[in-house]
Amino acid sequence: MKLAVLSRAPHAYSTQRLRAAAQQRGHDVKVLNTLKFAIDLTADEPDLHFRGKPLSDYDAILPRIGSSITYFGTAVVRQFEQMDVYTPNTANGISSARDKLRASQILSRHNIAMPATAFVRNRADVRPAIERVGGAPVVIKLLEGTQGIGVILAPQVKVAEAIIETLHSTNQNVLIQKFISESRGRDIRALVVGDRVVAAMRRVAAGDEFRSNVHRGGSVEAVQLDPVYEQAAVRSAQIMGLRVAGVDMLEGDDGPLVMEVNSSPGLQGIEAATKLDVAGAIIDYIAGQVAFPEIDVRQRLTVSTGYGVAELSVHSAAELVGKTLGESGLWERDITVLTLHRGVNVIPNPRKHVVLEADDRLLCFGKLDEMRSMIPERRRRRARVRKLPKQPLN
Ligand SMILES: Nc1ncnc2c1ncn2[C@@H]1O[C@H](COP(=O)(O)OP(=O)(O)O)[C@@H](O)[C@H]1O
Ligand SMILES: [Mg+2]
Repeated sequence: MKLAVLSRAPHAYSTQRLRAAAQQRGHDVKVLNTLKFAIDLTADEPDLHFRGKPLSDYDAILPRIGSSITYFGTAVVRQFEQMDVYTPNTANGISSARDKLRASQILSRHNIAMPATAFVRNRADVRPAIERVGGAPVVIKLLEGTQGIGVILAPQVKVAEAIIETLHSTNQNVLIQKFISESRGRDIRALVVGDRVVAAMRRVAAGDEFRSNVHRGGSVEAVQLDPVYEQAAVRSAQIMGLRVAGVDMLEGDDGPLVMEVNSSPGLQGIEAATKLDVAGAIIDYIAGQVAFPEIDVRQRLTVSTGYGVAELSVHSAAELVGKTLGESGLWERDITVLTLHRGVNVIPNPRKHVVLEADDRLLCFGKLDEMRSMIPERRRRRARVRKLPKQPLN
């Protein structure tokens, strides 16, 4: 395959290893500086220029977008997606993962366990938020920090309040997060490629530091991950739309707590700790996927008027429980079932003989009008009827 690694750091360990692994496998690989692309929207077909010349054809890209150029970098990746060039990490995935709040919102929607987190802006909301996540000591995080910079442990509520107020006064947004003391300055980095963890390590913070980042002096050791940790890592990466990701987890008393999902994980620490060819695993995965460009299904399937994708719940169509998909009448109503979600399992292309259960959810494509009646009602808070004010009119 012909592969472009998008990176501004051709001499960094990770870039060099990816290039070497691709060459060893007989692929044609180039490292292209992300900032030297020009996005061309003038022609009929989406196009890209590199260093002033039209870009030649590539089968795949591997984006390594640094946090300082997220906006432009993801625009370039999106352009490759529009050109049907395979990328393991989508533009959407990269930008969602980069913002710690956005990532937490997405992951918590899918029942991924995370440290209790709050996000506030109003001064009066700071103290209650600290109390809600468990009080002091409490962790304060800048939304877009990396390498442990911008992660602070505040020993007392008063100190936490002062730090947060200071950051707010300089227009910085911060997360307030429960300090997971039982992890004792250690965390797990799982390197996810496709649907498996190819390597994992434990990072241990230096001295009395609580941040275990290698850039903060943390040391690394290989670990054999418990399947529960593997599953949490793979699910988190997949939910974020990332097929190559470094998932950071704390070891909580009740199992893994996902902290963040990195879309450009460094390879040096994990290859050194595990002695595994992680770069090679990434290249092999990309080569296997080249025939399947990442497609925005929703975007592509909503082009014909009146048709779209929706998630239907069997629960809100109780007459379906116990029936097979074939007997459900969906097909007759011009509704195609793409996947069936049952608990944490997903059955793709479910067959006609599958019997529906009460808590099943069906991802369907079809006429929106036909599907509307089966879409679960939004959970609403019950509106309280208030007392009539003393002066109803004035
Ligand atoms: N809630 C927490 N409780 C305990 N330790 C934490 C918590 N959040 C972060 N840490 C420690 O700080 C490190 C950096 O935090 P992280 O959110 O991964 O930020 P960064 O993006 O800068 O790496 C983690 O690797 C972990 O060791
Ligand atoms: Mg981290």
